[in-house]
Amino acid sequence: MSSTNLHARPPYQLVEEGSASSASAEHHGLSAMAKSKDAEGMILPRTIARETKHDSKRDFLFKAYVIVSMTFMWTAYTLMVSYTRNSTPADKVYNSSSVVLLAEFTKWLIAICCLLRSCQYDMASVRRLLDVEFFGRPMELLKMSVPSIAYAVQNNLDFVALSNLDAGVYQVTTQLKVVTTAVFMVIMLRRRYSARRWFAITLLFAGVAAVQMDAAAENSTSNDSDKNYTLGLIAVLSTCFTAGFAGVYFEKMLKDGGSTPFWIRNLQMYTCGIISASLACVVKDGANISRVGFFYGYDSKVYCIVGLLGMGGIYISLVMKHLDNLHKSFASAFSIILVVIMSYWMFANVHIGGFFLLGSAVVCFAVLLYNSVPE
Ligand code: C5P
Repeated sequence: MSSTNLHARPPYQLVEEGSASSASAEHHGLSAMAKSKDAEGMILPRTIARETKHDSKRDFLFKAYVIVSMTFMWTAYTLMVSYTRNSTPADKVYNSSSVVLLAEFTKWLIAICCLLRSCQYDMASVRRLLDVEFFGRPMELLKMSVPSIAYAVQNNLDFVALSNLDAGVYQVTTQLKVVTTAVFMVIMLRRRYSARRWFAITLLFAGVAAVQMDAAAENSTSNDSDKNYTLGLIAVLSTCFTAGFAGVYFEKMLKDGGSTPFWIRNLQMYTCGIISASLACVVKDGANISRVGFFYGYDSKVYCIVGLLGMGGIYISLVMKHLDNLHKSFASAFSIILVVIMSYWMFANVHIGGFFLLGSAVVCFAVLLYNSVPE
């Protein structure tokens, strides 16, 4: 049987996560029909119209939940890595490559659990799904090794950056990802942006960077004799390129790469991720790990970092599925402002200054400007 035939009628049944898309097939069909009739200007039966409204509200709430959770996780991750790397003596600190490897395992396990759930815990269906989409398509696995290697490099470089830069400076510089992502979306996804949209993208970068500026100034410490600022900067700038490239590549595979189910795409990515993270472990920290052990320096904070890196990655993949890479940047800019405002109320030592107010205004303007041009 050809692979096209397999795709015409897959021998498994899937229920995907996420609001409207996770509703029953019947429900989904109903809302699709309602939408198409609405578009044609026909009068909708009241129940169908209600269903559609309910679906879009659920869809919006699900997207908001995913975006906000993603931002909270990455903020917590950045702060915890920065704290543990800078407060622990060099000879007592954990191996960062071991954290990246454990996070890849965590994501792999989560992807398996989500596959089970999407097959409604029917083991026979899961086996058929894996046979057809995972083991039966080794070329797809090979294609997914590209972003997974880029992410393995990026996840290791993040530790280099956070060990040599203050968390605030890192957060400001890392916002350049907005621009590199837009460039890769033009190159790889053939998106076209008007001059006004490019201006909005650049403004977004400047605005988010300004929002973090107050924190960057406050967090900077005088005791940074053992930090290599240039190395930290090179590391963070390199992650802006790997992030733009890998993110857009993953989105392309998800949206233009055939009918491969979402959790299979993630499983392909995390399987390659385990291999590349293991290689990074051996090459970067192999000698040290064989001397002191894999779990050297681990405590509850380090396990927490593993969990945040794993879950943060899963949420990023959901954002790429339900939105796109650029919407992700715009939405997380708003969430970053939200996080700063919330921490202002929650923690006494957080200060909201002129840069924050100016940056927030610029971010709002950038979002309005971006959306003032039709797609
Ligand atoms: O900052 P950026 O958005 O590039 O971060 C991407 C992060 O999300 C990386 O740590 C990567 O490993 C993770 N990711 C993931 N699964 C995906 C896509 C990205 O775990 N499908």
